[in-house]
Amino acid sequence: MKKIKVLFVCLGNICRSPLAEAIFKHKVSQKGLQHLVTADSCGTANYHVGDAPDPRTIANAKRNGVMIDHIGQQLSLQHLADFDFILAMDKGNHQNILKLHDAEKYNSKVLLMRSFDQARQHDEVPDPYYGHERDFQQVFEILDQSVESFIEFLKKEHFRV
Ligand code: 4NP
Repeated sequence: MKKIKVLFVCLGNICRSPLAEAIFKHKVSQKGLQHLVTADSCGTANYHVGDAPDPRTIANAKRNGVMIDHIGQQLSLQHLADFDFILAMDKGNHQNILKLHDAEKYNSKVLLMRSFDQARQHDEVPDPYYGHERDFQQVFEILDQSVESFIEFLKKEHFRV
């Protein structure tokens, strides 16, 4: 069976989306679902292409038992063609994804990450870049919850496990 491909997207690809990717891979591996799905992440901006994730994101993830292994890359139309689910961290990035030339035909693949967050009080994963440790921890908890629900959705609707 062809693996489902999931792409997490934020602005810089050094805080939220590489963390979402790492949490997703961690959970997928814990649940033994690696043969069914792959994941990657990227940014709508090019500020951090080639960079490692933000050291605060790496440290926070480590404190929560998750290892991050990613190098920054910018979203391209090819990503939209290649991936099955494109999960944007906030509405600005969601809009920017769909502003890519020719992106309209991929409209239905592009979703807000928190549309899968069962307990959500907000639609967006807040940007922690100008924040403090508590903001990084809040992002971790939001992503942990959203990614868990997203995997449950995949299991029900796509994996049939
Ligand atoms: P991210 O956070 O989109 O979650 O990776 C940001 C990282 C860098 C910048 C903004 C947000 N920046 O302006 O460089």
